[in-house]
Amino acid sequence: MTPDQLAHADLRLDVDGAVATITLDRPEARNAQRPRMWAGIAQVLEELGPEVRVVVLRGAGGTFSAGLDLGLLDPGRTDEEGSFVATLALDDQAIIDQIDVYQRPFALLTDPRFITIAVVEGHAIGAGFQLALCCDLRIVAEDARLCMKESALGLVPDLVGTKPLVAAVGYARALEICASARIVTGAEAGEIGLAQVVVPAADLDGALSATVDALTAHPHGAVTATKRLLQDAPARTIEEQRLAERTAQVARFRELAAAFSPAAGG
Ligand code: ACO
Repeated sequence: MTPDQLAHADLRLDVDGAVATITLDRPEARNAQRPRMWAGIAQVLEELGPEVRVVVLRGAGGTFSAGLDLGLLDPGRTDEEGSFVATLALDDQAIIDQIDVYQRPFALLTDPRFITIAVVEGHAIGAGFQLALCCDLRIVAEDARLCMKESALGLVPDLVGTKPLVAAVGYARALEICASARIVTGAEAGEIGLAQVVVPAADLDGALSATVDALTAHPHGAVTATKRLLQDAPARTIEEQRLAERTAQVARFRELAAAFSPAAGG
């Protein structure tokens, strides 16, 4: 994407070797999300080169994201793409198709090509919480405030966040968090398995750096294949998973053998 396109999407992108950092860059609105931001994140993820092993998602200005741009729900605003009023003019299938497009960047964060990390400080509300949930790992400030606020607005979480939430904390805790729309602090997120690393906000960069180093220390192909195995495990029987492990290992053997063969020069 060009710098102008990124700016239009309220995003910044920094690619440093194997690490791509996508920054939600609309701090004046606490990184509230609009369809243009979702389209931008999808395009950035689709365009990343094969050298990228880790994608970091964070927010500018000391907060992750205040969620959906509430202006889109304003009945007085009909101009912006994705406004509630404009959406209501569509038939049911067209609304379903529109949300499918909005969900795309959230789903792409699960791509096995890379490991995705959300760095959460300040607030992660609604769509912000869901964006963090769609990442593989969450590094969270202990005083961060996460909230699945959709039910308080009469909505359901529809940006791919429900499945990873249930996977992380189980059905009962997920229901309690969503139905009450209460704040989950960063410290609690660590205790209930929502966050993998919890540190004081001032230590987030150090924690991120250590995590990235650990995640990029080992062969890319092995890590990618392992991510795919683990992602698909919950939907498989034990027999299906055993077969998937065997099949993945054959591919690993072949790749290792090719790398060590004399013809490969080393
Ligand atoms: N959409 C649009 N603008 C927003 C949003 C949002 N979701 N959140 C904050 N802003 C804007 C405010 O309107 C304000 O703009 P202004 O300076 O022009 O008045 C600016 O960002 C700063 O907001 P404050 O409320 O002053 O910031 P503060 O740091 O005190 O609070 C907080 C941050 C807690 C995130 C608060 O802004 C908030 O509660 N926002 C709404 C969160 C929300 O309900 N999101 C929708 C969830 S549901 C979903 O995502 C589907």
